[in-house]
Amino acid sequence: MSSHSNIALTGFMGVGKSMVSKKLSTLLDRPVISTDAMVIERAGMPIADIFREYGEQHFRQLEAEVIQDIGKKTGVIIDCGGGILLNPENVTALKQHATLIYLKASPDCILENLQKTDGFKKRPLLDVDDPLAKIKTMMTERQAYYEQAQMTIDADFKTIDEITESVLKAVNND
Ligand code: S3P
Repeated sequence: MSSHSNIALTGFMGVGKSMVSKKLSTLLDRPVISTDAMVIERAGMPIADIFREYGEQHFRQLEAEVIQDIGKKTGVIIDCGGGILLNPENVTALKQHATLIYLKASPDCILENLQKTDGFKKRPLLDVDDPLAKIKTMMTERQAYYEQAQMTIDADFKTIDEITESVLKAVNND
């Protein structure tokens, strides 16, 4: 793995991207850049408020701007919001500047993770009456987008340490 290359983690909400990013950051001594955090900073408000006040389209526009900015960085871990790969320009930019890794888990695992961390309120797309049904539908719709990543890591009911180890193995063999 070149010291200049970035590692970008993608996958569905609640799969563990942020926690794995932090772990990788410590182990590899590289900074983490969170696209969600950058969007929040740019908008000056939390994600749920951006969706409510300006709509998902506006959120996606901010995300795309953030990805273009990140392209100039090297040697970082990029923690991608779960919808980043829906925009083909984001996919192109990420693949150009990073090894793009898909953390894959089942809807049941995602639901359990989000319940444990009370993660529904800050994720407007899952702040619904039947989150499991929504997760299943969205995951089916998004599967092909996530599979554009260069590598897929099995994150289904795995610990953060296990996922991190798999990511490290994958990038070291690259
Ligand atoms: C989204 C995922 C979220 C956040 C926003 C939309 C998505 O990020 O960007 O709520 O469309 O999948 P996480 O994947 O970090 O939860």
